[in-house]
Amino acid sequence: MLYDVKDINLAEKGIKRIKWAQNQMPVLEEIQKRFEQEKPFKQIKIAACLHVTTETASLMIALKFGGAEIALCASNPLSTQDDVAASLVRNFEIPVFAIRGVDKKDYYQHISRTLDIKPNITMDDGADLVSTIHSTRENLIDNIVGGTEETTTGVIRLRSMQKEGALQYPIIAINDALTKHLFDNRYGTGQSTIDGLFRATNILLAGKIVVVCGYGWCARGVASRAKGMGARVIITEINPLKALEAVMDGFQVSPIREAAKVGDLFITLTGNKNVIDREDILLMKNGAILANAGHFNVEIDIPSLEKLAINKEEVRDNVVLYNLKNKRRIYLLAEGRLLNLSAAEGHPASVMDMSFANQALSIEYLLKESNSLSKKVYAVPQDIDERIAFLKLQSMGINIDKLTPEQKKYLASWQEGT
Ligand code: ADE
Repeated sequence: MLYDVKDINLAEKGIKRIKWAQNQMPVLEEIQKRFEQEKPFKQIKIAACLHVTTETASLMIALKFGGAEIALCASNPLSTQDDVAASLVRNFEIPVFAIRGVDKKDYYQHISRTLDIKPNITMDDGADLVSTIHSTRENLIDNIVGGTEETTTGVIRLRSMQKEGALQYPIIAINDALTKHLFDNRYGTGQSTIDGLFRATNILLAGKIVVVCGYGWCARGVASRAKGMGARVIITEINPLKALEAVMDGFQVSPIREAAKVGDLFITLTGNKNVIDREDILLMKNGAILANAGHFNVEIDIPSLEKLAINKEEVRDNVVLYNLKNKRRIYLLAEGRLLNLSAAEGHPASVMDMSFANQALSIEYLLKESNSLSKKVYAVPQDIDERIAFLKLQSMGINIDKLTPEQKKYLASWQEGT
């Protein structure tokens, strides 16, 4: 079996951590049990490009129990947990091509090795796998039934491909499932980004002015957690509706050019580029900290930061100090890459439980419905979404009410009013 991991002997540590995650993923466990009986992925090859974490390992194992042949690579150069990669290879015989800290060339080399499996299904987080197939490995497309996409950024890229007529096979947008973005993006990113901040810096959040760029589901999570820990939070937005929501949620809202002057800490979660640009950096206070939790490392204008600096120095793991020509010190966390996955362990398992249950069930759906799907981005079917919410509640021991026949009738009628 071909693979490329940092050190296969890390497997012993990796398997313990994978088991810990599995214990907190009861919905996926339930699905895995059924897959083991039914083998829905017999003779199906899956190429997955996901953050190589304990939670991703749990998904890969569930798919393997379902009969799939899998190859896995990383969806970000800094998010791989090397012990997990080693364990997947040694303990589960799943080929993994992922090493934390690879450069761009090796990152794409790993994607390419993963594609050598000649997949029937692709599983992506950020759309690098799909865009590689469409730009350099088109010969694989005939074999591919469909794919899934995990994240907001990936779904945006794929919708652009669809719009241009470039997309060559159906993709299910996992991110758009309610049991994904309302929980993973909000509570997952909210907690894991703050976790990454603490592990990298150990700063006190209480009393700090935290500028959160964006007010999508991920940014909301971070803003609410930072507020809950005593930070004064300022939101920047380009969307009037989201900005209005931020105002009515009790946050100060201002343009980044103004927020730049007062923030102690800046966290970008917009999915866009140069959200913090050269001019903003020049306005920042001495000691300001910059971090990103959006998918790509383009949200902070790092090339300008490099040019503005006389020198730079790593002062802690994942913290680089830039000494600027204007005599100010600016700190950049985790090279401006996803803070929660680079400096911490990503979202906790119990929230990834729902995201990856969506992945597992959506792949099963794709295979069943392949004849009726065209080259488009599709939503996760509502019944899958609702089933996952139900199973999650059940695993938490929480019961809810049911509509009475009278209530059902009332909801379906229009005659009854005041
Ligand atoms: N994205 C965010 N957190 C993650 C995790 N723990 N595993 C895989 N992908 C993630």
